[in-house]
Amino acid sequence: MSDSSERTRYEREEAVARTFDEWVRDGTATGMERRHKRLAERMLERLDLTPDSRVLDLGCGDGWTVRLVARNLTAGAAFGLDVSREMVVLARRLSADLENTLFTPGAAEEIPWAGDYFTHVLSIESAYYWTDMVLAAKEVFRVTAYGGSFHILINYYEENPYSAGWDRETGLPLHRLSTEQWARLYRDAGFEEVVTDQIPDDSPISPGKAPDELARRQGLQAVGALYVTGRKPALPESERARRSRAANPFHVLR
Ligand SMILES: C[S@@+](CC[C@H](N)C(=O)[O-])C[C@H]1O[C@@H](n2cnc3c(N)ncnc32)[C@H](O)[C@@H]1O
Repeated sequence: MSDSSERTRYEREEAVARTFDEWVRDGTATGMERRHKRLAERMLERLDLTPDSRVLDLGCGDGWTVRLVARNLTAGAAFGLDVSREMVVLARRLSADLENTLFTPGAAEEIPWAGDYFTHVLSIESAYYWTDMVLAAKEVFRVTAYGGSFHILINYYEENPYSAGWDRETGLPLHRLSTEQWARLYRDAGFEEVVTDQIPDDSPISPGKAPDELARRQGLQAVGALYVTGRKPALPESERARRSRAANPFHVLR
């Protein structure tokens, strides 16, 4: 990537971060749990989480999903990454009683973590804000453990007409991809068994909406959110054996 396109990416990331910093200051951030929780629960039901899973939430916001997941990880941990520093500060504060959570500022395009680590990488209502979709998909693949999986949930995608105006409303350059484009991105990054589904959203709608806004919300929820998932191939047996020999300095003595 050239210096100028890198600069453009960082400038766009900064613009996104500023918007979400503002969401923390005006209280919108803490309302996201109520809006996204039902959908998130329906997605989490599909994950094969075990008590020792290592979970990363990309674009974690105030960290409510990380906390939800972490409570069941008696021997594992949940991590949150967000480009908005204010979100990270808020998430840390709200999670102070949970020892198995960790929040760090950073972008999905440059995940500050070693490779092959997370058993599950998930992201809720964030991926269409990411500035470089190809780079982010490669990063998701890099940090996912062998045999691990990724899980993306978004309402802003081509087949849901009710979210079409969100780029105008947010003033941010959002990515409006089709279901097939999302699947291709993650297949091209190296994931196998990439499948998509639409999950209808049965969350209660808050009262007091104007009729056209209510109709748009009902339409959005009925069409549902796009769920994209896939698995990183397991490490071949020969490579696994080689690594475990290399990790054991005494193997030559046996
Ligand atoms: C609509 S909020 C959703 C937050 C949370 N996942 C939820 O469901 O409540 C989107 C979040 O993604 C974060 N975000 C946007 N672009 C990002 C990027 N490139 N890398 C990491 N986080 C990003 C924003 O700062 C924001 O907190």
